[in-house]
Amino acid sequence: MNGDKNPLRELTPSRSASDSATLVIFGATGDLTARKLMPALYSLFCQDLLPGDFKIVGFARRPKTSEIFRNEIASYLQNLNKGSRLDSFLSAVHYHRGDYTLAESHVGLKKKLEKFGHNRLFYLATPPSQYESIITNLGTAQLAATAGGWIRVIIEKPFGHDVKRSGELNRFIARVFNENQIYRIDHYLGKETVQNILVFRLANGIFEPIWNRRYVDHVQITVAEKVGVEGRGRFFEETGILRDIVQNHMLQLLCLTAMEPPSTFDANAVRDEKVKVLQSIRAIEIDQVENTTVRAQYAAGSMDGIMKKGYLQEEGVDPLSSTETFTALQLYPDNWRWAGVPFYLRTGKRLPKRVTEISIYFKDAPLKIFGKRADDVKPNVLTLNIQPDEGISLRFDSKVPGQGGKIRPVTMDFRYGTSFGVDPPDAYERLLLDALLGDSTLFTRADESENAWRIIQPILDYWQNYKKKPLPQYNIGTWGPAEAAKLLKRSGRRWRRL
Ligand code: BG6
Repeated sequence: MNGDKNPLRELTPSRSASDSATLVIFGATGDLTARKLMPALYSLFCQDLLPGDFKIVGFARRPKTSEIFRNEIASYLQNLNKGSRLDSFLSAVHYHRGDYTLAESHVGLKKKLEKFGHNRLFYLATPPSQYESIITNLGTAQLAATAGGWIRVIIEKPFGHDVKRSGELNRFIARVFNENQIYRIDHYLGKETVQNILVFRLANGIFEPIWNRRYVDHVQITVAEKVGVEGRGRFFEETGILRDIVQNHMLQLLCLTAMEPPSTFDANAVRDEKVKVLQSIRAIEIDQVENTTVRAQYAAGSMDGIMKKGYLQEEGVDPLSSTETFTALQLYPDNWRWAGVPFYLRTGKRLPKRVTEISIYFKDAPLKIFGKRADDVKPNVLTLNIQPDEGISLRFDSKVPGQGGKIRPVTMDFRYGTSFGVDPPDAYERLLLDALLGDSTLFTRADESENAWRIIQPILDYWQNYKKKPLPQYNIGTWGPAEAAKLLKRSGRRWRRL
């Protein structure tokens, strides 16, 4: 399988990788493998979507046999209730003990792989600090190319740490792999509801004419989480929510909302349009960061009746840390379609609930023709609920039944659950299968990643040089600090109440 595929055509059934393939997971004993990769692979296996001759090789430092590794995987797959094919799935799983930094470990891997087919997918699920060693050693062991098969590499986020380092990482990987072999993963792109953004916009004729600055007042994108940093304090200290969520997931959501229709659904045509959106985002001047962004940390407090630590008390966090767990910002795509339309982004940990959504706020009707009766009239809002209550809803105003003739907003709702009656597959299922099929549409291209870093770089620089200590705090279970509301209030707008 090769080439860039049409994602819409591929939404049809019978997507199965028919060749043989071997998936090598670096970081096989880590959390991602246990929580996401193995369940996704097992689910694909149970749906007969994996290649007939499929092998998984787990690569990690800890000494263990393939037998022990299989037992560990079995222990976390057993609860998935997928029927009785576990033994058959596990028979394809092998373990390779190795050190990411040692060439000989990769030579040993090569020997092991020679027993299997020519097609190979390497998955880098290790901390990013290991990427360069693994890539170098794959090159040295001549594992980056193969006669008569394909080789691809999936790289987990975070991809780089800033614009400079993401460029360096891209150039480093390019010494060993061609761009069309590299699959930079952003799991948001594998979510069913995220794929549906383009389908919704482009398969329906009625939205395109109003999807622009003439009808849209502004756009709000929210990624809210109820959880805190969940034992990942050390990682979060290095990252912060701007890098963790905005640079990748949220800018991808913005791109899919704002992009022009691609000329075809080839991977490159789709990604070209996303890159154009990123390039059009007005650069934030360093002296504007204070006015156009907000950052804060969650304070200790009670959530659902249980006391929770504040960010500064979390394990692995510097008690004087200025790493943000909440951010809100305002971006302007300076292009023909969106000139003057602000896109507001907000994301945070320990907010009142888990919800990701994109809301398109339309301009008011030209005239308040119903006068006082329409005092409660609200702008029309189209909301794409990405998760957890997947759906789409449209808010519009309606006459309240009765003699008074009052007007108030109502919503028209579509829910995936009730319309389709099936749970959407996990994002990793889609993305692993796409990588096996050679479809890179839902993966991030080098220039996409670098342009996304370019957008947030002035914010990172300003925050780095202007270390506010202590950072503003917000009460857990609230929608962030008061500054977030002020960001919109200045232009007479407000965040959607969720
Ligand atoms: C990850 C971040 O990329 O996305 C996490 O590193 C975050 O901090 C997670 O919790 C959220 O993913 P989802 O699919 O639950 O919205």
